[in-house]
Amino acid sequence: MCGIVGYMGSQDAVPVIMNGLKMLEYRGYDSAGICTMDSGDVEIRRSPGKLVNLERLLKEQPMRGTIGIGHTRWATHGKPTVANAHPHKGGSVVVVHNGIIENYLALKDELSEQGHIFISETDSEVISHLIDEKMDSTGSFEEAVQQALKMIQGAYALCILSKKDDKTLIVAKSGSPMVIGIKGNEYFIASDMPAIISNTREMIIMEDGEMAVFRNGGVKFSTIYGVEIAKEPRYIDWSPLKAEKNGYPNFMLKEIHEQPQAIKNVVAGRLLEDEGNVFLEELHLNDEELRSFERLCFVACGTSWHAALMGKYLIEEYCRIPVDVEIASEFRYRDPLVSGKTLVIPISQSGETADTLAALREAKNKNAHIVSICNVIDSSIARESDGVIYTRAGLEIGVASTKAFTTQLVALYLLTIRLGRANGSIDLKKGQEMIAALSELPAMVEKTLELDLQIEEIACEYLTSWDAIYLGRGISFPIALEGALKLKEISYIHADGYPAGEMKHGPIALIDRDMPVFILAPNDRHLVKVRSNMEEVITRGGKVVALCSEGDFETGKRADFTLHIPWAGEALSPVLFAVALQLLAYNFAILKGKDVDQPRNLAKSVTVE
Ligand code: AGP
Repeated sequence: MCGIVGYMGSQDAVPVIMNGLKMLEYRGYDSAGICTMDSGDVEIRRSPGKLVNLERLLKEQPMRGTIGIGHTRWATHGKPTVANAHPHKGGSVVVVHNGIIENYLALKDELSEQGHIFISETDSEVISHLIDEKMDSTGSFEEAVQQALKMIQGAYALCILSKKDDKTLIVAKSGSPMVIGIKGNEYFIASDMPAIISNTREMIIMEDGEMAVFRNGGVKFSTIYGVEIAKEPRYIDWSPLKAEKNGYPNFMLKEIHEQPQAIKNVVAGRLLEDEGNVFLEELHLNDEELRSFERLCFVACGTSWHAALMGKYLIEEYCRIPVDVEIASEFRYRDPLVSGKTLVIPISQSGETADTLAALREAKNKNAHIVSICNVIDSSIARESDGVIYTRAGLEIGVASTKAFTTQLVALYLLTIRLGRANGSIDLKKGQEMIAALSELPAMVEKTLELDLQIEEIACEYLTSWDAIYLGRGISFPIALEGALKLKEISYIHADGYPAGEMKHGPIALIDRDMPVFILAPNDRHLVKVRSNMEEVITRGGKVVALCSEGDFETGKRADFTLHIPWAGEALSPVLFAVALQLLAYNFAILKGKDVDQPRNLAKSVTVE
């Protein structure tokens, strides 16, 4: 899930590519590299770590050329070293690659026997050597790429240059995303539109099995089997959002504080107060069609999977429709039981998560109707769905999802109302109540944000902990999972979330005086049971932080710390608990001096399996 950028035109390629890579760093920041071609001279610069290191290197060792390719890496095969950084060079051929070549070991053995010398541990380097080998036999860059691609198994988006054909740039794609921006005789290539949209709005979206050959100011599209195809650019009318911290020390804190507005955005223009319903035209489904689904199936990964889990609680409770929640990477490989009577709902902030996209395609092959919940406009998942509910969270830069998650929860709440009104399980009065509850939510999120100082105190107290447990029941269970994930990914403290009632079936063995247990105890139907679970922890010497609802002075009496979260009703309070747990993870990470926006080993958009 690396980011790739290519350029061919009349400008100096380096700044164009570097600007593009900056917009793609969310795809990985283990290393970065760039290659330009200038009158047959190939120059490569590579640097481990974030893009800023490559920028520094380019200042010391500038390079020029009007054709170039660049890469920002999330390491899969091989450590984040200079040798493993892209671009990779095999003979005369240079490539940048996003994806995974699954048969690279066999190809590498074969090529090594033919005399190719490999310097990296990556799967990607094999592509450059393979094309180079094929160039020797075919004498044609284009044919060599076609022949090589036929031998490659796995996923790829590639930009390829060859010293032997120094006026040509070739691009190919299968499984990993790739777009081409066109402006006269200039071509901008990238994994994602935001990287190039400041240069042009005329975009061609590459499909699997396609390649593009840029030469002499023109472009020719074909399949990798050499069959020429016509592709028309489409005009992209959305504006790129600017990544600005607006006075915040980092993007994560800014995005946490943007949640009241983000929630207003996700509901804007969608509420039909009088009808107790919501307007979700983008589903492209009328009431009768909505009623025709026998079941719903969410597919998602990570935080989006936690949102899906909350969706299950909401939809089964209020709409009485059976809901499955599938981890996308598991779903696609087990011949899932979906049919034309299943509404499949992929949830994804980026809309590019490879596993979720593959799950969507698997469901589509089985005739399921697909309505996705996405944040990024025109992303692959959005484009391939029959309908999309956009979460309108705006640009999320922090790798740890915050506003993307809470807007997903609100979008799911809206979907619940829509489904329940369509099948009659939510009547007019209930629908009106559910909509009314939404109006208070942004203000309640503001109020929850005011707990920051108390939360910081808690983080200080448990800063030396190695582990933490998060407990919740019912609709709070997915929020416990999400709280634990937030802590893990940005502070590197091991944390697990459990349904509170499961503790006694194993995890309670972990409890000792060094183990903070964050207990989600909203004022809902589970409160009495949660209090008992809290007692079980206290009895065993565990440290308890009780997250209770405002006005509940009973639950936290025996806890070490108590946080009072505003009460927004059973269905919406999880949004507020999620915000408090974001702040908790944030404070832990900041106090530990961690980079909250770009935590180690992670990437914002996970475009490999
Ligand atoms: C959460 O903080 C992570 N960034 C991660 O779990 C993320 O939710 C997951 O990779 C799925 O991403 P998506 O929503 O873009 O599909």
